[in-house]
Amino acid sequence: MLVLGLQGSPRRKGNTAFLLDLFLEEARRLGARTAVISPAREAIAACKGCGACEKRGFCVSHDVMAQSIYPFLRQADVVVAASPVYFYGVTAQLKGLIDRCQTLWSRKYRLKLADPGAATRAGVMLAVGATHGGKLFDGLHLTVDYFFDAIAARNAGSLTYRGVEHAGDMARHPRVRAEAAALARQVCGPLAARRRIVFSDPGGAGAGMMAAAWMRYLAGDKWNVFVDAPAPSGQTAAMVERVMAARGIDLGYAGIQPLASENAPMDRVVAIGSAPVETAPVTDRWLLEEGRDPADADGFARLCDEMRQKVARGGDGLPPAA
Ligand SMILES: Cc1cc2nc3c(=O)[nH]c(=O)nc-3n(C[C@H](O)[C@H](O)[C@H](O)COP(=O)(O)O)c2cc1C
Repeated sequence: MLVLGLQGSPRRKGNTAFLLDLFLEEARRLGARTAVISPAREAIAACKGCGACEKRGFCVSHDVMAQSIYPFLRQADVVVAASPVYFYGVTAQLKGLIDRCQTLWSRKYRLKLADPGAATRAGVMLAVGATHGGKLFDGLHLTVDYFFDAIAARNAGSLTYRGVEHAGDMARHPRVRAEAAALARQVCGPLAARRRIVFSDPGGAGAGMMAAAWMRYLAGDKWNVFVDAPAPSGQTAAMVERVMAARGIDLGYAGIQPLASENAPMDRVVAIGSAPVETAPVTDRWLLEEGRDPADADGFARLCDEMRQKVARGGDGLPPAA
């Protein structure tokens, strides 16, 4: 399970970084894997407003957003947006990342595609500001609420602290440690308690990715889903994305955690095909017609529907997802 922190302050060891660390520390204690992206340290191009993503679902800027940040956002079960108040908004660096999520907004609202993690992803806002006004965090709440909607995250809560100005002020706050840990337990606890399942597909022909995406989409509240498969060829990957999109599911920017990212043992290992798999012990084996032609659209569509049915039906100890 991935908890992703977006550290919006340009200060490496400032108040925001301190607050975010408290949350992530507790998430790790619950068994989560955590990662932090600091937009101030990344070369993120500003959104050009060209509208290409609204038509094609992809951004024309091929930078770190496409290489790693969109995939991280897609894999994450919890996204923590953390920022100091800068002129009543989030920092420009974090806003730059948020604006580029217009691509994900477009995939959801223009292309009408559902992120497989949409049913389970939670969003949390953490913010600090120097002054004490009643409206100090209003701008941040508005921006972050709409950001969470674009990345398909349920707004799961926030912590905001006034009167926090100089580096070190946050660490002196009397309640921050208990409050950050409590929110982390509330948001991450139920997700960390899910059982773990991996779809192992040594052939790398797309079936594992499709099964994992269906599982996350249909039963992500009960299962923490992983995939163990070599990257499919460009043609196969495009076909897999196309057949899933035809059924309303978005596999753009992947979105399924690779098994290699997890240390904890799996509760179920579903081996797809007859090839031996390294992840032991195999609890389920799904035999399929082998040697799929990457150009055979009908064959991939049938495979996609078969994966959905198998996941939805469950059986052999695997509870039905739908
Ligand atoms: C450019 C800039 C703009 C700021 N604007 C505000 C503001 O509008 N309201 C406020 O209360 N604090 C404002 N602050 C203060 C920061 O929010 C505050 O110092 C915060 O603790 C910094 O967090 P950090 O250590 O994580 O960077 C501003 C600071 C900077 C550098």
